[in-house]
Amino acid sequence: MCGIVGYVGSKKATPILIDGLLSLEYRGYDSAGIATIEKDVIKVMKDKGRVNNLYNLEGINDLEGSVGIAHTRWATHGRPSKENSHPHMDNSNTFAVVHNGIIENYADLKEFLISKGYSFISQTDTEVIPNLIHYHYSNGPVSVIKDIKEKLLSAVKNAVQDLKGSYAIEVISPLCPEEIIVVRKDSPLVIGKGSNENYIASDIPAILKYTKDFYLLDDNEFAVVTKNTVTFFDSSLQEHNKPIKNIEWDANAAGKDGYEDYMLKEIFEQPTAIRETIGSRFRLGEKCSFDDIEISKEYLSKVNKIYIVACGTAMHAGLTGKTLIEKLCKIPTTVEVASEFRYRDPLIDENTLCIYISQSGETADTIAALKLAKQKNAKTIAISNVIGSSITREADYSIYTHAGPEIAVASTKAYTSQVVLIAILAMHFAEILDSSNKEVIENLKADMIDLPSKIEQILDNTEVIKDFAKKVYTEKDMFFLGRGTDYNVSLEGSLKLKEITYIHSEAYAAGELKHGPIALIENGVTVIGIITDDKLLEKSISNIQEVITRGAKTLVITNQILPNSHFDFIINIPKTNPLISPILSVIPMQLISYYIAKFKGLDVDKPRNLAKSVTVE
Ligand code: AGP
Repeated sequence: MCGIVGYVGSKKATPILIDGLLSLEYRGYDSAGIATIEKDVIKVMKDKGRVNNLYNLEGINDLEGSVGIAHTRWATHGRPSKENSHPHMDNSNTFAVVHNGIIENYADLKEFLISKGYSFISQTDTEVIPNLIHYHYSNGPVSVIKDIKEKLLSAVKNAVQDLKGSYAIEVISPLCPEEIIVVRKDSPLVIGKGSNENYIASDIPAILKYTKDFYLLDDNEFAVVTKNTVTFFDSSLQEHNKPIKNIEWDANAAGKDGYEDYMLKEIFEQPTAIRETIGSRFRLGEKCSFDDIEISKEYLSKVNKIYIVACGTAMHAGLTGKTLIEKLCKIPTTVEVASEFRYRDPLIDENTLCIYISQSGETADTIAALKLAKQKNAKTIAISNVIGSSITREADYSIYTHAGPEIAVASTKAYTSQVVLIAILAMHFAEILDSSNKEVIENLKADMIDLPSKIEQILDNTEVIKDFAKKVYTEKDMFFLGRGTDYNVSLEGSLKLKEITYIHSEAYAAGELKHGPIALIENGVTVIGIITDDKLLEKSISNIQEVITRGAKTLVITNQILPNSHFDFIINIPKTNPLISPILSVIPMQLISYYIAKFKGLDVDKPRNLAKSVTVE
């Protein structure tokens, strides 16, 4: 949550910082702010509202400094307001700080600082940080250090040692006007290397157009960034070197590329994303290859249980992963919501394999759930879209979806590419274990190769989807029904609808309806049914018939030839193996939500209250 940008160079920092903030708004967008060093003072401009609001503030163009930090906020402590916006300063206006994450012990620290004479303007947890830096700079062991640079870095280190929680922090001070000090713990921060200038950001896409060379800061690692140097220190301020990483993402891939919204662009990118995910991992007639993980037959034969752990959409991708793994590998698999898993003392031992799915690779609960499994000696595999993200650095093995940057808060291409990757992983395990008929796997591979062109067919026919959206966009409630993998994908369809249209919706296993939820079905309520599995066809139709009888208006998304029926709308999609059918059936659902949100005039890419990566609990 929240976005951070920093710049040190010879150019005016403000336009670069604002540009970075604009591309980071998906991380939080209730307030924005900027601080630059102007000769020997820090100038701060900030306000509630979006980055455009900041851009239009009177005087913003007068900021001439070429060292600056900036922030776009997703409020945790204190409602959106100018006072609560970052950057925050200490009482003497000597230190400016932006912060992502949560300082859990801020109340105690605030009380301590108040007892020492400090006062506070905001309700944020962050404001303790610049004041703590000031406290350490002026008191105790650090205060006697003669070299100002060393003294400032030591004060930041001592302040950070007092913090409990998660943070990515940038600090500037006119005491050392040519540098930015950064540190992180459980919240991402990268440094982009330029020529005679360096950049800092919480996410790679924010600065991708300036550089492809990145340092990925580790937990508890400090860096001092000047225009020509980046110096790294461990938590005891011992200096060390760090390799640079070249990020292959195309800078244009992080733009809208002519589409009205990122979400629409990302929906239409799914055929390409899936081709990239498949890459060279398999060919017909050849076994799947995963050079990036070492899983032996001996190990896999001993695995007694697999956990797939994730949040939100990634968790929904995991549900289809479970079906695939159980079907192909015959290993009991459970899908867990990371925020529950991490606290419920799950049964994990060295024969448990834990798979973590996270588009961003920065989701706090998923990372914590991964650390838990490692403590209990389980093997861990991370599935992520972001190379070098925190989760991939924690896991024993990491495999990437290669879907390209996903900017819209509502996840679309990440979901389909996650399902594809976990399907390939399941086939790989099945080939190692010899647990499935070869023909079954070959057929599945053929079906997977055909997915991109089948998605293109759906995307070529959006009129009926748009038409449906136009008829239902004023509704207050909707229901999604499905069986098997159609149920898994219903959950994702329902989440998408809630996220970007604010329409209340529920997804149910169709057979579960009569155990309670059917009481909610009344005249005119919209029910979306998904029917893609021949074996479940009749039962699914009966369940939808039950809601029609009670007055529901129905849309059916199907790859079946349905008997002449009373459905109000039908969206036909191409046939595929039911194990991977969510990859096709989710597409109309993504588009339904998208068009409903557009008809309602909502901001599709930045829905209220949400942020792209949830780096706080
Ligand atoms: C998806 O539309 C959501 N915005 C959200 O559920 C997301 O999938 C979840 O927060 C997990 O994110 P991650 O994949 O980056 O871990």
